[in-house]
Amino acid sequence: MILADLPTNRLTHFLLKFTILGIETSCDETSVALLSVDGSGKVPKAVLKKHFISSQIDIHAKYGGVVPEVAARSHVPETVALITKALGRKGLDAFDVIGVTKGPGLATALRVGIQAAQTLAWMSGKPIIGVNHLEGHMASAWLVAEHRKHWAFPSLALLVSGGHTELVLMKDFGDYEVIGTTRDDAAGEAFDKSAKLLGLGYPGGPKLSKLAIHGNDQAFKLPRPMLHDETLDMSFSGLKTAIRQLVEDVGGEFKKSPKSAKSKRLLADLCASIECAIVDVLIAKTIRAAKMHSIKNILLVGGVSANRRLREDLDKAIARELPGVRFLKPNPKFSTDNAAMIAAAGAWHALRGEYDELEAIEAEPELDL
Ligand code: KG4
Ligand code: ZN
Repeated sequence: MILADLPTNRLTHFLLKFTILGIETSCDETSVALLSVDGSGKVPKAVLKKHFISSQIDIHAKYGGVVPEVAARSHVPETVALITKALGRKGLDAFDVIGVTKGPGLATALRVGIQAAQTLAWMSGKPIIGVNHLEGHMASAWLVAEHRKHWAFPSLALLVSGGHTELVLMKDFGDYEVIGTTRDDAAGEAFDKSAKLLGLGYPGGPKLSKLAIHGNDQAFKLPRPMLHDETLDMSFSGLKTAIRQLVEDVGGEFKKSPKSAKSKRLLADLCASIECAIVDVLIAKTIRAAKMHSIKNILLVGGVSANRRLREDLDKAIARELPGVRFLKPNPKFSTDNAAMIAAAGAWHALRGEYDELEAIEAEPELDL
């Protein structure tokens, strides 16, 4: 086949009923999804037909963090395997449009998903959409049928992940304004770095929050930087210094008898106090932002939205302080990186007829909203 014979991948109309193939390889999860969408009714329907996630956590754990080259190399066979599994016997007929993460993320890792998506688009002649991973996180809440019923603008999203901590004013699909952010570490990073200081390994966020369940969150006083200032900005790097000091103060007990009931209690108390300090700041800033703008919904999205304490406390704060505002959050299994949310964000674009030129999609490691 000569190049001129190839389909153009250009659609001039928007799609109403379609299946979108989602591909995510921005960091350390390879994920592929098939999402069937019907936008013909008042409330769009979205049914997840296939969804696979292959995590590289075990591979990176021994390095104490994600190694970009290793991540990219591991994505290659996994991306091929998961796409093959998702498409099954239908092959290229299994989807009508492709959504692939184009950034932000690790350049070499992003390229694996993009090249796979471009190849499939090229072979099938079907349209392709380069999806912003951050918009994908926001779309993770849209995967919940009940939330689609109440989807409205303007809304406020608290987007908290390993690399981002942002308060986003969502004015419409594709029209976002970041109104608050962290000045240093992201919330997920604060969880992970604290966990590392406590010797909990990588990625420590989920481990720290599990241990926190049985701890006393008032056991240790930790700083809550910028809690009461007028801005919507946050800062988490000061926590590390305070925690390092605390670990030194109570370290003797851990060294003496790490398995003792006293050590276990100390660790649980430290975890609960750290979690409480991070969650308090996130909630205070979210409520402040919501009061400054007349919003309909608050979304809690990003990897840290899996945190139980944050989900529960934000729910209570909204009920107490923002009557009439709904709280929309993803199913926790779609909080961390996955392709279902990338397919969902891609669907938002397909429903509006927004496609990309096949050749124009490239990895954008620093992409923002
Ligand atoms: O969204 P995500 O999967 O990847 C990025 O786009 O960064 O977020 C990963 C982050 C990690 O920092 C991880 O520790 C954190 O989300 N995380 C949690 C929990 N589950 C994941 N942090 C606190 N509590 C959790 N349960
Ligand atoms: Zn993410």
